Order: sequence, then C-alpha cells, then structure tokens
Amino acid sequence: MSALPVKYKTYLTAFEGMLETYCAQLTCPRGLADAMRYSLLAGGKRLRPVLFLAALDAFGGEWERESELALALECIHTYSLIHDDLPAMDNDDLRRGKPSSHKQFGEGNAILAGDALLSEAFTLSVAAAKDEPHRRAAELLAHAAGAEGMVAGQFLDLACERNENAGEEELSFIYENKTAQLIRAPLMMAAAIAGMNEAPMKEFGTALGVLFQMTDDILDVKGEGGKMGKTLGKDEREHKLTCVRVYGLSEAERRADALADRCREALSKADADMSFFLELVTYVRERDH
Ligand code: IPE
Ligand code: IPE
Ligand code: MG
Ligand code: MG
Ligand code: MG
Repeated sequence: MSALPVKYKTYLTAFEGMLETYCAQLTCPRGLADAMRYSLLAGGKRLRPVLFLAALDAFGGEWERESELALALECIHTYSLIHDDLPAMDNDDLRRGKPSSHKQFGEGNAILAGDALLSEAFTLSVAAAKDEPHRRAAELLAHAAGAEGMVAGQFLDLACERNENAGEEELSFIYENKTAQLIRAPLMMAAAIAGMNEAPMKEFGTALGVLFQMTDDILDVKGEGGKMGKTLGKDEREHKLTCVRVYGLSEAERRADALADRCREALSKADADMSFFLELVTYVRERDH
C-alpha cells in the first residue's frame, strides 16, 4: 500500500554510508559529538538527501560523488527536528522512535547540538561550492533553511498555535515554508548542479512538500505511534493549525489526493525520466510512517 519506490533503497544505502563516514570523523568535544550522532543516526527516512541523489541521477549527474550537499541537507533537517521537539516549541519527548534530544541530553545540549548541525551544514556547503553550479546549489539550500524558508514556517506555526483567527492562508504559508522549502530545495539543487531548468522542480517540489506535511498532519490523527516513532494526537492537544483543523479529516484527505495529482502533472513537465518521483508521490500520499 505504501511501498517505497524500488530505487529508494539504493539511494538510502548510499546516503547511510556517507553519513556513517561523516559521523565517524566528527572532532568536536565528545558530549557534543554524541548528541549530534544520536539524532543523525537515529534512523529517519532520509527523504531530503534521497530526493537530491535521485534527482541528480535522473538528470545524469554523478550522484554518488555529491556527499557534501546530501549531508548538509540531513544536518539541517535533523537540527530542525531537535529544535522542533524542544519544550519551547512542540514539547515532544519522542523522535525517530527514541527519546528526543533534550530528553536524552538536556535542553541546553539539545539546543547546541542543533546549532552545531546547522553550522556544519555551512561548512559542508562551502566545501561543496567548488564551481558556479554548486555555489548556486548551496545558495538554494541556505535560502530554503532560513528566515525566508523553514524558519519562517516554524515561526508562523508557533504564532498560529491556539490562535482562532488563523486559517487557510496561514496554513498555506506554514506548509510551504516549514516543510516544502526543504523538500523542493534538494530537487532544485540537483537541477542547478546538472544544468537543468530549476522551475519544474520548484513546482513539483513545492507540491510534494505540501503533500508531505498534509500527510504528516493526517497521520498525527490516524497513524500508529509505533510506526511513526513519535507521539501522535499532539497537534489537536496543542491546538496546532493543521489541514485537519481547517478542513476536517475527510476534506483534508480529498485535498491530499488532488495535490498528489498536481504533483504528477508537474512531473510531466520535467525533461528527464521521472519514474522514481512518480512512485514517490504515491508513497507520500499513502505512507503510514
Ligand atoms: C518530519 O520529517 C518533520 C516534517 C516535515 C513532517 P520526516 O517525516 O521526514 O522525519 P524523518 O527524517 O523521517 O524522521
Ligand atoms: C515540523 O512539523 C516541521 C519542521 C520543520 C521540523 P511538525 O512539528 O508537524 O513535525 P513533527 O510531527 O514534529 O515531526
Ligand atoms: Mg512543529
Ligand atoms: Mg513537531
Ligand atoms: Mg507533525
């Protein structure tokens, strides 16, 4: 029902290898490295680096050699999860099936592990930026992560908690920024590196990112905690602004189906074999974790 694309495993395995090598050579103080590794190696779907590697592959790039930006993507994503779980944000005790970083290491150390992972992403991006296409890719990543990207979305997510005046418009902003920015970035980065048009990837990646957050919100209501590796039912308890709150569950499901169709339509405009991504759209719509 929610099978991953056949080639997902290939990219995932390659990325896990890159991540293990990276984690083994961290030279910062041991407690800090422990906290960074704890969250990086706790599992996770690795969706963002997989999107990057798969798109490079689809565009004929040397995807196995692009470890730095793949790692930078996962470092930024992992930092965003550590900070998202903090008591001052979503106050979540469980992440990737394990105690969240602040539960394991204390709040101060969790904040610092997140800070360190974000800063590591700069170092990795600068190392990758050896020519203009890679510089452009690094620029896309920095933009997607920051004040006009994921952080902006997280800001509005917090502002809309317990806010009865917030509705559809705010929901779109939250989805497009907190989640879709870091899902479309790897696709646009791969296009930039391969010298392809970024626009179709921006359109597809935005729709896929919004779909991904819609299904995350839907799974918070009807998913199984064991599979998701995080505490479910929290969005309603915390009065989060989600598609389920705005539309109700069945209308949210209908809109997710329509968005999956929009993803497929956007893919038809790309000038490469997009079969991996077609399979991925179905997975994201039907996923159970
Ligand atoms: C969780 O992201 C945060 C959202 C954007 C919903 P993922 O569902 O990709 O988390 P991991 O990386 O697989 O743990
Ligand atoms: C978080 O969205 C998206 C991020 C940028 C981290 P959620 O708060 O819904 O993610 P989960 O459910 O905690 O993984
Ligand atoms: Mg959140
Ligand atoms: Mg959260
Ligand atoms: Mg969620």
